[in-house]
Amino acid sequence: MKVSAYNIYDEAIGCRKHFSFYPVVIVWVAFKTLFDVRFSDRGGAMQKQYIIRRFNPKDLDNVVKLNWVFLPENYPSFFFLENYTHWPEAFLVAESEGKIVGYVMCRVEEKYYRFSPIKLGHVLSIAVEKKHRRQGIATALMKGAEGGLVNTYGVDLVYLEVRISNEPAISLYKKLDYRVLGIMPKYYSDGEDGYLMVKPVSERADERFISAVLGYRVKSK
Ligand SMILES: CC(C)(COP(=O)(O)OP(=O)(O)OC[C@H]1O[C@@H](n2cnc3c(N)ncnc32)[C@H](O)[C@@H]1OP(=O)(O)O)[C@@H](O)C(=O)NCCC(=O)NCCS
Repeated sequence: MKVSAYNIYDEAIGCRKHFSFYPVVIVWVAFKTLFDVRFSDRGGAMQKQYIIRRFNPKDLDNVVKLNWVFLPENYPSFFFLENYTHWPEAFLVAESEGKIVGYVMCRVEEKYYRFSPIKLGHVLSIAVEKKHRRQGIATALMKGAEGGLVNTYGVDLVYLEVRISNEPAISLYKKLDYRVLGIMPKYYSDGEDGYLMVKPVSERADERFISAVLGYRVKSK
């Protein structure tokens, strides 16, 4: 009998005749397992499993839920929508298998420095679902949002507040070249101090610029 690829499959499905399909299936399953592990590892995770994209209003409930579950600082739904409406390129989500597993939301603030208008990027909130952490998702979200803040909105620096006890977040931000500008005593509603962290992203954002536009908010370290 002449065996084509088609009738090998046909016969294996029906479990009939002489050709055994099981070795092929076993080899294929073994190959798939190895292949998937490779793409589930840290290096491949961002390419294979997670999509970083702009927030869409249909993500609102999931983002609000992540915010409530993983952060003590919570906001009403309209606040998320307001930031999205004004600065959509700086509000990103991470998606895995159709599920929202992380987000970062930023806004742009306008001020004056030496009588010229300037823009500051402010990271308002970021969270990643617990079981998806240490895969580089927050890093990818932050880099994406910074890209939007710089390239679309033309900010001179990006800044954020973080609890002084939040070591994972502080470590994340330091790795992304943010530095502690100073402490904001009792910044949080439960009385915890906050660090104000800053990253200059334009040439004019030198020490003088940073201290003029943000220095008033902090006690020096
Ligand atoms: C902070 C948070 C967003 C980090 O998300 P993540 O996707 O796990 O971060 P990444 O995988 O991109 O980590 C990047 C770097 O951050 C640091 N980091 C992240 N989690 C850490 C942890 N638990 N302990 C120490 N360092 C940590 C590490 O330097 C890490 O790099 P490495 O994995 O190569 O060592 C996440 O822990 C979270 O959602 N926390 C709760 C919400 C929160 O605190 N938000 C910040 C408010 S200011």
